[in-house]
Amino acid sequence: MEILGIDVGGSGIKGAIINTNTGVLTSERHRIPTPVPATPDAVAMCIKELNEYFNWKGAVGCGFPTPQHHGKCLSGGNLHKTWDGVQIDALFKAATGNDFTVVNDADAAGLAEVTFGAGNNVPGTVITITLGTGIGSGLFLDGKLLPNTEFGHLLYKNGDIYEKYAADSIRKKEDLSYKSWGKRLNKYFNHLQLLLSPDLIIIGGGASKKLHKFQDQINVNFPIVAAESQNNAGIIGAALAAKEHIT
Ligand code: BGC
Repeated sequence: MEILGIDVGGSGIKGAIINTNTGVLTSERHRIPTPVPATPDAVAMCIKELNEYFNWKGAVGCGFPTPQHHGKCLSGGNLHKTWDGVQIDALFKAATGNDFTVVNDADAAGLAEVTFGAGNNVPGTVITITLGTGIGSGLFLDGKLLPNTEFGHLLYKNGDIYEKYAADSIRKKEDLSYKSWGKRLNKYFNHLQLLLSPDLIIIGGGASKKLHKFQDQINVNFPIVAAESQNNAGIIGAALAAKEHIT
């Protein structure tokens, strides 16, 4: 079954047609820069453009980078504050005429990896952590998703959240070396270890390609690996969420 998968990110909105039986992209990937400001109307225009680019009529799965519940945005987060309370799937359906399943972007990346990638057939607690503009999380037990966790929002000190300390965007903003950034991530992964005792953490998002640059700073008692589908995990998992109607 083919489904259009879309991944809305802080810097780019990416789409491709996915064979949901194999996880393979059956089209090239198309990327539109995320509009600034990323208001609901501006993002909906990009979603329309992507649907038109692929001339798509059918189901669409969309990974979305904010806290959400059953397709409703709970906080605009790194996009724009006017997203608060917006029913995202209904907005995108109105813009395109297609049925949308909207899922958290890190849950989508995790779905791709537990189905086809690094988390496939791994028993126990598997967590996807996406490192990009923000920090996203996807929590799985024996391959089953517990949706909408927000472990990038764990507190590290004085009410500050880990996302503002250890996201890839913070590495760039503060011009951190990979060694310094790795030390921050080590603190974060140790916090996750204490709270959740993971069996495996899979790194997704833009930083999935950079794991080798900071891995030697990490000292935890579970393996940390890169997403096998790297930056495409979000698109593939969004299509899988639409197939399974996971929100
Ligand atoms: C949001 C998460 C999202 C993550 C990665 C965070 O700011 O709260 O929902 O998964 O960024 O995009």
